[in-house]
Amino acid sequence: MPYNHPAINRIKQRIAANPGINAHELTESLKKDMKTMSDLMYMTEGRTRRIYALGDGKAVLKIAKAGGESQNIDEAKVFECSGTKFFAEVYDSDPKGRWLVMERVITNDGAKTRKLWSWFGKTSRFTDMLVLVYAIRRGKTPELIATIENNKESNQEVKDEAIEWVNEFVKITDQCKVNTNDLHSGNVGIRESTNRLVLIDYADYNLTDQDDGISSESVSLKELIYAAGN
Ligand SMILES: Nc1ncnc2c1ncn2[C@@H]1O[C@H](COP(=O)(O)OP(=O)(O)O)[C@@H](O)[C@H]1O
Ligand SMILES: [Mg+2]
Repeated sequence: MPYNHPAINRIKQRIAANPGINAHELTESLKKDMKTMSDLMYMTEGRTRRIYALGDGKAVLKIAKAGGESQNIDEAKVFECSGTKFFAEVYDSDPKGRWLVMERVITNDGAKTRKLWSWFGKTSRFTDMLVLVYAIRRGKTPELIATIENNKESNQEVKDEAIEWVNEFVKITDQCKVNTNDLHSGNVGIRESTNRLVLIDYADYNLTDQDDGISSESVSLKELIYAAGN
């Protein structure tokens, strides 16, 4: 569905007028726009994309850096498979991957940390996103569930949410072939309307965790935590 926003409409017009325009040229055109218009604001960037806030406060624009087009293409593809429950919604995207519009979520580290604390407890080993995902991947789900159940700081509603997340997350990432190796805290956020933890960067499509260099299923949690910290 087209995302109706003046900045996105300008990008589409530029592409219609010059179909071969590349992501770098689009970035340059946005720089010019931002000097005179306030409907778009540069936010931050990752390794493969520059992120802009749209003036409506509801969405972000991801513009590919050199080579980042495939990330945008893959993210749109994964989203078609994954649905919105654990994934920030892709509202609109360029078939050639130069740009993508995504639901804006809260990326504040404190909010994310509090969320994981409420699930696992402040002293838990799972409060780091990577440790959590490694643990799920390595068959440590029963330990995660036990930690959630035993967390005296949370109520049943929070526990149910956490258990659901742990149980369903891996199913969806497998089904949609999302590479969870890139799941660090910078790639998740919190959806304000539901207070749910969602992925915001799930572009590394069709890779498996065999690439992560940790082989054995019987790897200990200590090793997992070590691996996650590196
Ligand atoms: N949907 C979003 N809502 C809010 N901030 C976002 C969103 N998507 C990305 N960001 C911010 O931009 C950063 C880089 O975006 P990301 O999608 O991870 O790009 P890259 O593929 O280059 O790593 C994120 O770490 C986050 O801070
Ligand atoms: Mg990222």
